[in-house]
Amino acid sequence: MTTGHDVTVNSYAAAREALRHRELRQALYDEGDVVMADVLVNLHGSAHRDRRRLENRLFRRATNLRYELELFPPVVADTLKPHVESGRGELVSLSHQMMMNLAAVTAGVDRPDGTAAGSDRLYQLMMLFIEGATLAHYSGDRAAKRAEVAAALDEFDGVFLAPSIQRRRDALARMASGDLDEHDLPGDILTVLLRNLDHLELPHDVVVRETAFYLLAGAHTSATAFVRTLDAVFALDATAPDDADQARDDLEFLQCCVHETIRLQPSSPVAMRWAMADVELADGTRLARGDRVVIDLMAANRDPQVFGDDADRFDPRRVAHDGAAPWGLSFGSGMHACIGQELAAGGEVVRPGGNRTSAADGLAGLGGGRAGPDRLYGLVPVAVRAVLDAGAEPDPENSPVPDPDSARGYWARYPVVFEVSP
Ligand code: HEM
Repeated sequence: MTTGHDVTVNSYAAAREALRHRELRQALYDEGDVVMADVLVNLHGSAHRDRRRLENRLFRRATNLRYELELFPPVVADTLKPHVESGRGELVSLSHQMMMNLAAVTAGVDRPDGTAAGSDRLYQLMMLFIEGATLAHYSGDRAAKRAEVAAALDEFDGVFLAPSIQRRRDALARMASGDLDEHDLPGDILTVLLRNLDHLELPHDVVVRETAFYLLAGAHTSATAFVRTLDAVFALDATAPDDADQARDDLEFLQCCVHETIRLQPSSPVAMRWAMADVELADGTRLARGDRVVIDLMAANRDPQVFGDDADRFDPRRVAHDGAAPWGLSFGSGMHACIGQELAAGGEVVRPGGNRTSAADGLAGLGGGRAGPDRLYGLVPVAVRAVLDAGAEPDPENSPVPDPDSARGYWARYPVVFEVSP
């Protein structure tokens, strides 16, 4: 795409309209193409629609529930156990390990040797993929980092993906010969891709990147939201102790804390799109073909017209107006809206007899519309609760350290102690 001007939009309405506009094409990952070339979030038009339609099938409510109720709890418990037993943990690495273990199930990445060393290596590769995808924000030698990420993808392909592909091909062959029921196929992205290689015209290198992308898209965003929510709950201990207690006792309120955290700190502070044609937005913003629109999610999510005059404040009881979701635009909108939103953060918390556009009221009796056996809280709230249940508190001797290399407000380290009452 030839570059024109950068045009920034920062109101909620214009940001949402830009995200949903069909003549505006993904631009955020141009520099991250070593991992992101031809992956779902970078496709446009019919290529995007065809792949999304297939991959959507994996994220149905029944599957999300199975993850939340069956597959995820042991992953959380196993990841937490050694830290709780030692009495100490570091939330940044712990959260990425936990969310990677889950994302590996969704993506379809097996750990063939089943060892801790194998998981550690996959974790290191995933962290390199994250650096590759966000290369535009990298302050060091980008060419060297890109080469390192390309080598990591080759290793991922040989060590992890090749046996994962073989296992799924075997399962597909058994299904073809009638020895395996379709329902017993692995429920993951890799299986979806392998079943549709011809239909989607997918070369092997795209299968490698799409799987790596699911690993990082599922793990990194959720891990970041997890650490930030815990930080917000720890802050409530000093500013609003009753709310801190409620966050520890009431999963629905904790879910609201996660949504409010994600609104205030979107995983990427901006989205970007290229104008494929001349475009005029409803507020009069004009884009010429070739311009790049910078969608300021951080500003849109704090638009006072939608989130109130105190939009900068952390308030899990906030009610958004104009039909906005409590997390604002942090899960995107339109064709690229996050496929894993419900899996990560559950459904919206709806007030009995009201809706999210109604006037603010208390959270008493929340969730009446969504209660029941198919109530999804989301993996981030469930994981945060497990850490709080284990008695996590900030380590009084080791303060959290912000990441000096990141403009995105990440933590480099967040040490905690676990104080479970006997
Ligand atoms: C707190 C957690 C998460 C956040 C904040 C988040 C955020 C986002 C955002 C903002 C987008 C849109 C990007 C754009 O428009 O440019 C997106 C897309 C996407 N997300 Fe998430 N995400 C989260 C969790 C997940 C999980 C758990 C998965 C996978 C299981 C996932 C998979 C994807 C995929 C595949 C897309 C691309 C969709 C498409 O282009 O059609 N995300 N996510």
